[in-house]
Amino acid sequence: MDIRIVSTQPFPDQKPGTSGLRKSVPIFQTPHYLENFVQSIFDTIGNPAGQTLVLGGDGRYYNREAIQIILKMAAANGFARVKVGYGGILSTPATSCVIRKYKTVGGIILSASHNPGGPTGDFGVKFNTDNGGPAPEKVTEAIYARSKEIREYKILDAADIDLDHLGESRLGNTVIEVIDSVQDYAALLETLFDFDRIQQLLSRSDFRMCFDAMHAVTGPYAHALLERRLGAPAGTVHNGTPLPDFGGSHPDPNLVYAHDLVEILFGENAPAFGAASDGDGDRNMILGNHFFVTPSDSLAILAANATLVPGYRDGLAGVARSMPTSQAVDRVAAKLGLDCYETPTGWKFFGNLMDAGKVTLCGEESFGTGSNHVREKDGLWAVLFWLNILAVRQQSVADIVREHWQTYGRNYYSRHDYEGIDSDRANTLITNLRAKVGHLAGQSLGRYQVEYADDFSYTDPIDGSVSTQQGVRLGFSDGSRMVFRLSGTGTQGATLRLYLESYEPDPHKQDRDPQVALADLIAIADEVAQIRSLTGMDKPTVIT
Ligand code: G1P
Ligand code: ZN
Repeated sequence: MDIRIVSTQPFPDQKPGTSGLRKSVPIFQTPHYLENFVQSIFDTIGNPAGQTLVLGGDGRYYNREAIQIILKMAAANGFARVKVGYGGILSTPATSCVIRKYKTVGGIILSASHNPGGPTGDFGVKFNTDNGGPAPEKVTEAIYARSKEIREYKILDAADIDLDHLGESRLGNTVIEVIDSVQDYAALLETLFDFDRIQQLLSRSDFRMCFDAMHAVTGPYAHALLERRLGAPAGTVHNGTPLPDFGGSHPDPNLVYAHDLVEILFGENAPAFGAASDGDGDRNMILGNHFFVTPSDSLAILAANATLVPGYRDGLAGVARSMPTSQAVDRVAAKLGLDCYETPTGWKFFGNLMDAGKVTLCGEESFGTGSNHVREKDGLWAVLFWLNILAVRQQSVADIVREHWQTYGRNYYSRHDYEGIDSDRANTLITNLRAKVGHLAGQSLGRYQVEYADDFSYTDPIDGSVSTQQGVRLGFSDGSRMVFRLSGTGTQGATLRLYLESYEPDPHKQDRDPQVALADLIAIADEVAQIRSLTGMDKPTVIT
């Protein structure tokens, strides 16, 4: 075996963010950059001998090259086996599924999620641990610490592996197994949902749907599940071939970036159901005929209807949402007598709760919903969950959501993003807010009375770990809220996220435009945080 030990210097900036290490492609192509980070992961795993690693990515630019490098490093580091996705493709939820099914030591996912790809786009490396979930903070901190002292990495001198043929080959003593990217994942979803009933729904002449894979990783999964297995007509899946630059678009399923799908669902002769997923397949957007379901509402509706779905027939252990996600699911939990947990932003915080059997469903306002079937959010899972509910209830998406609001009240909700702000200015804004919040409780802001104001801190109920400074929040006496935090996934400048929420129990007032319903809170947020003057922007770049 030709193991090469390569001398290297640490890079100072390999601190994983909300979801792994994300940088531009040129940074990842810097000599030793990828290798240093991967070796830091391997060193943190400890003893790879006899272990299996899962490896795949969302197909973005540099995916294949990175996979070849990581395979050779895994071999040089002594892993027994690497399960790598066909063509280098594995969605984030499918990776989680494979790690769990084969009880591997963990997996590496190459993705920058919804960030654009291409030669000057973004790339990313995420490490998931043996529960199938994103590495918790103590692991990412250990990887980061290692990356700051690394002096060498190991790599095998060998020819590339053919990723386009299923089956086993060897790199040194390591078995490289190219696996079907879809099979294990599809088999898992089949245990959760009533495929016969969904199939009947999809065969009805009065029910049409379309799914936009946004030229990203879910294409092969959606073709296999929706069209081949569930019988949706060919052409149901749009943009179903993963492309290295996602066709030049931004693979983020929201009203702004998934505009092609939005035009179809809000156009003439619109289908009954539309959905989209992101770069690595963990996000989802749900649309009905001329109707948008906010992710926070979607989580609440899945929770309220869970017992209609075979995999959740016996009810839920509990639910969880990230702190900025609307409190719609809290109302469902209260009614059903379920525990409801509030965690910091990022899927990694749900892992302990699911492992401990405390929660079954989780979600984030950022188009992420999932359950304990894996340890990641799962785009296609959410789509099938909705299809299962539609098949059972035989109502339109809009009717289901409106009925939900009548029963539980409506949580008007919106997120305003200010992207590409100068980092110093963004930090000043947050620092000012932190200094201010201590004095706000009890004060009136416009017609709102501040009930609490703080910088969210979370103590994990399972392992006691504490995560501080997770977002400045102001809660008002009528249940309205606003939250300010900086994105931990961006790669250029800083992104300020402002989250706004108000509660409307009156069914006659539930059909307003959220931007109108939230207008007073939006104005107060600007006044409290001086957003316009500090960012120099007079409106958000993205509103969801
Ligand atoms: C964003 C979302 C967060 C999500 C993450 C990864 O992180 O806000 O909910 O978990 O992407 O998909 P942020 O950029 O806000 O740190
Ligand atoms: Zn994603």
